[in-house]
Amino acid sequence: MERTLSIIKPDGVRKNVIGEVIKRFEGAGIHIVAMKMLKLSKEDAKRFYAVHKDRPFYDSLTDFMSSGPIVVMVLEGNDVIKKNRELMGATNYKEAAAGTIRRDFATDIEQNVVHGSDGPDTAVVEIAFFFNQLEIYS
Ligand code: CMP
Repeated sequence: MERTLSIIKPDGVRKNVIGEVIKRFEGAGIHIVAMKMLKLSKEDAKRFYAVHKDRPFYDSLTDFMSSGPIVVMVLEGNDVIKKNRELMGATNYKEAAAGTIRRDFATDIEQNVVHGSDGPDTAVVEIAFFFNQLEIYS
């Protein structure tokens, strides 16, 4: 059994697709074991995306990620990191496969609706950024 962090980004909340994204997770047999809506400050967003601090899009990305509420979830299931990434599709929605969340709802390489951890080590760090153990209901 594996866990991963999923974020419905500010554009996903604004586009009113929270339920649609959750439906796709549950339809794939993934369990949501923690969830909350919150708004990141610019500083929070910079800490969360610190790995990208030298990338040209860092300032814009962290402005965007602090521009409105997000929904953060811990997903649990067998092979859930890979499954979630398959459901999301490629970072650039133009390259995402048909039927993926980003292909269906993203409008921009930055405003790409969802974030998902890219591996087991990242998942542990990203889950701990948003949730403590008492908030996760396995
Ligand atoms: P995410 O999977 O959350 O990881 C980093 C984010 O940076 C990515 O989704 C996009 O929102 C954003 N991003 C990645 N590449 C670019 C890019 N070339 N230009 C702008 N934003 C990007």
